This record gives sequence, C-alpha cells and structure tokens, in this order.
Amino acid sequence: MTYHTPVLIKEVVNQLQPRRGGLYVDCTVGGAGHAREVLRACGPEGQLVGLDWDEEAIAASRERLVEFGARVQLVRANYVELEKVLMSLRVTAVDGVVFDLGVSSRQFDEPGRGFSFQREGPLDMRMSRQPRESHGERGATAQDILRTAGLDELARIFRVYGEERRARAIAREIVAEREHTPLETTTQLARLVESVLGPKHGGIHPATRVFQALRIAVNDELGNLKRGLETATQFLKSDGRIAVISFHSLEDRIVKRFFVEKSTGCTCPTDLPACACGRKETLRIVTRKPITAGEVEVRNNPRARSAKLRVAEKL
Ligand SMILES: C[S@@+](CC[C@H](N)C(=O)[O-])C[C@H]1O[C@@H](n2cnc3c(N)ncnc32)[C@H](O)[C@@H]1O
Repeated sequence: MTYHTPVLIKEVVNQLQPRRGGLYVDCTVGGAGHAREVLRACGPEGQLVGLDWDEEAIAASRERLVEFGARVQLVRANYVELEKVLMSLRVTAVDGVVFDLGVSSRQFDEPGRGFSFQREGPLDMRMSRQPRESHGERGATAQDILRTAGLDELARIFRVYGEERRARAIAREIVAEREHTPLETTTQLARLVESVLGPKHGGIHPATRVFQALRIAVNDELGNLKRGLETATQFLKSDGRIAVISFHSLEDRIVKRFFVEKSTGCTCPTDLPACACGRKETLRIVTRKPITAGEVEVRNNPRARSAKLRVAEKL
C-alpha cells in the first residue's frame, strides 16, 4: 500500500532550487516523497535532516531513504523543536526548508488513529503516539476534549478551527449526549454531527469541519505552524528558501501573513529623520500567489485539490 502520495513534488523541488552539497530540512518528512527528490537534487553530497512527530513516519522514511545512507538524518520530533534538533546535530544554518502540513494518507486511512469519520476507530487524532505527557501542551486526545471541554470551549473549537457555522448547536448536542453515552468512536461522532446538520450536501460530509477542528486542537497545529515558521526562517542561510504546502485556509492565512510580515521593512512615517520602529525585512516573497496543483495531478490525487504552495527566500 502506498504510504502517501506527495503533492506538488516537482513544484517544491523547482522552487527550492536545491544546490549540490546543500543541507536541507524537511520538517514533515512523512513517507519521504519530497525528501527523496530533494536528496536527489542536492546529490551526491547534499544532506537532509527529516523530522516527523509520528514515529511510524520516521520508520517508513528510514526504509525509503536507505539508499542515501549517511546523507540523511531522521529525528522523531515536533518541528517546534527544530532548534533543539539542529543544535544536537551541530547544524547552525541550512540551505532550504520544506513544510508539507497536515496528516499523511497513511495516518488518515488507519482507523486506529481516529482522523477519519469514514472509518470506525477511537477518537484519538494525536500525530504522535508517544506517551501523552510528551504530546503537545495539552496531551489530550480528541476523546478527552469531547469529554471534558465545556459548551463554550467546544463551540469555539468548531467555530475557529473548523469555520463551522453551526458550531454551538453541535457543541450543545455533544454536551447533552455525553450525559448518558460516552463519545468514543469516530463514527459515533460523525453520526451525531449529521443528526444536527442533516445529511451530506454539496459533496462534503457534514462532519468534515468538526473533524478538522478537533485535529487542529488536539495537535495545536496552528500554534505549531507559527512557531515552526519562525525557527525555520532563523536557521535559513541568505538566499535559502522556505517552501510551505498548506491544505486549508487557516494554515494558508498564517503562512501568507508570516511571509508578508517578514518581508516588510521599516514602517515609520517618511518624514521621520531616522527609523524608530527598527523593523527589517528578512524574507523576500517568491510566490505572490500560491502555486496550486494542475488538473492532471488533482485527477490522480484528489488530496492535491486544496494544496497551496508558498515560497519565500531569506535575504
Ligand atoms: C502531509 S504529511 C507529509 C508527507 C511528506 N511530505 C511525503 O512526501 O510523504 C504531513 C506529516 O507531518 C507530520 N506532522 C504534523 N505536524 C507535525 C509537527 N508539528 N511536527 C513534525 N511533524 C508533524 C505528520 O505526522 C505527517 O507525517
């Protein structure tokens, strides 16, 4: 079974412009699709550090990248710990960084992970299955959140992370239901959401946004992204590029804003004799508009439909 079909792979390599002998970081190495192409492009001496929060992804990548030997270092870690990881490898600067956000097809398709409403499984949704204390700030599974969060908190999660218009109605139903029946499985939750929103319309399952929201909350995905982008940029060499693939508007907005903020210099009024704000641009935006997948790729891999690639270069 394919672990994961990487999206926008040619575009990522074209944009990253790997240099022979360069050192690259893949912050979300997954099934190593992008990592392999980057390694090929920076060969025969170039190196890659691959991180993934999920131990299974690291194991899969280790097998898939075996041909590259010592040119690859794989580390199981949340990419918010990038600085610690790079320091431990004595790396002080890198030539390029890739983020391919979200979950892999393997994670999504495995019922035991709880990411999909189409497969019966526990409401887990943690990216890593390490003991809870090492997982994120909350260390909670989706089931923990559904069991303990109050009405307002649940509604906030569905509204903010799922952009779900009926967030409060769904939260109310969850709070009422859990009084007598514990919410334990993905299909149970999917049915509950469907009972509030009605059946599927417009090709999107009614539970899609609630599942997305819970996944984001469980893994603090948006917080991680903001911190990860910041650290990755700090480690980039001058002319080095950062390439980020996002899959929904909340992520894309964060990437876009981050690039705009980092590519904006002094904002002092022009009549001030000297700069008082101290802002300096550190990035140049390479992709004014995000790069998206072509028709053929979307036909072959429907997951590519929502992918957006944004790239910036360190000044
Ligand atoms: C879309 S997949 C990456 C696929 C990969 N580019 C490939 O070609 O196979 C996203 C990966 O990011 C990992 N991930 C998500 N959040 C992470 C985080 N905060 N730190 C490290 N890895 C993370 C997931 O475990 C998953 O394996």
